[in-house]
Amino acid sequence: MSYSAILLVGGMGTRLQPLTLHTPKPMLPVAGVPFTEHQICKARDAGINEIVLATSFKAELFEPYFGDGSNFGISIKYAVEKEPLGTGGAIRNAAAMLSGQGPVAIFNGDVLSGHDLAAQLAFHESQSADLTLYLTEVGDARAFGAVELDSDHRVFAFNEKMENPPTNIINAGCYTFNREVIASIPDGRVVSVERETFPQLLMSGARVFGYVDRSYWLDIGTPAALLKASQDLISGRAHSAATPQNNGEFLALPGASVSSSAVISQGTVIGADVVIEDGVHLSGCIVGNGARIGARAQLTNSFIAPGASVAKAAIADSQFFGYNE
Ligand code: GTP
Repeated sequence: MSYSAILLVGGMGTRLQPLTLHTPKPMLPVAGVPFTEHQICKARDAGINEIVLATSFKAELFEPYFGDGSNFGISIKYAVEKEPLGTGGAIRNAAAMLSGQGPVAIFNGDVLSGHDLAAQLAFHESQSADLTLYLTEVGDARAFGAVELDSDHRVFAFNEKMENPPTNIINAGCYTFNREVIASIPDGRVVSVERETFPQLLMSGARVFGYVDRSYWLDIGTPAALLKASQDLISGRAHSAATPQNNGEFLALPGASVSSSAVISQGTVIGADVVIEDGVHLSGCIVGNGARIGARAQLTNSFIAPGASVAKAAIADSQFFGYNE
């Protein structure tokens, strides 16, 4: 069976500023490619053959990179919201561009996961579900939507971000929706699936199920998390078909020039045409294309913007270079 998908990529990404001042969160490079590319490849490899990107903030930056999807082995279309419609409004709006029938996989555009998407789709069908949520378990669920399940994995409660969550099983940001459920979302206004659609479905007795998968899961919504995602992909703790080959300590893209006396480690990514001068130490950094790192600089867990220059002997931990201009 072939499936359709919608990728929610229209958010403002405010927690990632200054990285998102000029680039939407889903287009930020993670392990050498825009984050969205990891999700598109995951969708393709699970048998999805068409995907609509639900865009709003800096919508025009997606299509020049992804085009019609032919370079990625999947059909890609673009739905643009003039004003952001929220997660539910975005799904309703983007679904108008889908062809085919059958369930639709919906991804939050900021989750890196090792979960078995094909198994989630099969589980949805086997339960004759209206909606299936991918769920994972975290140590502290307060910042997430905690989801309560009965012994048949049927959802009976959603608890959006609360001080004392009743469970550590959370909404992991990837859903399977039947088309009728999408058609029931109000058209042309802001709707949150988490706050409005999911509770309404439960109240109406719809068949809402949880697919629990405890493999790798990370919300890349903060700078520290984004760096961790990139580092984990380079080091092999996380996997993606979109990550170029690497040696485990760092990834250098084509055209990068790295001095033989530089020490690069902890999953650092060195963008295309970057110059790394003598004696530089980089640990866990993302260096944008065309940047230059001056001799003996020592940078840890830092972001260097495309084309930026870092002064000789600079020392920094968890800093941003060149993002405010
Ligand atoms: P913050 O501003 O830092 O909270 O990030 P965000 O704007 O991405 O919001 P959030 O993390 O809550 O969004 C979850 C996912 O839904 C992300 O992939 C967003 O891109 C996406 N999203 C949120 N709101 C909208 C919207 O109004 N329209 C569309 N198309 N996508 C949205």
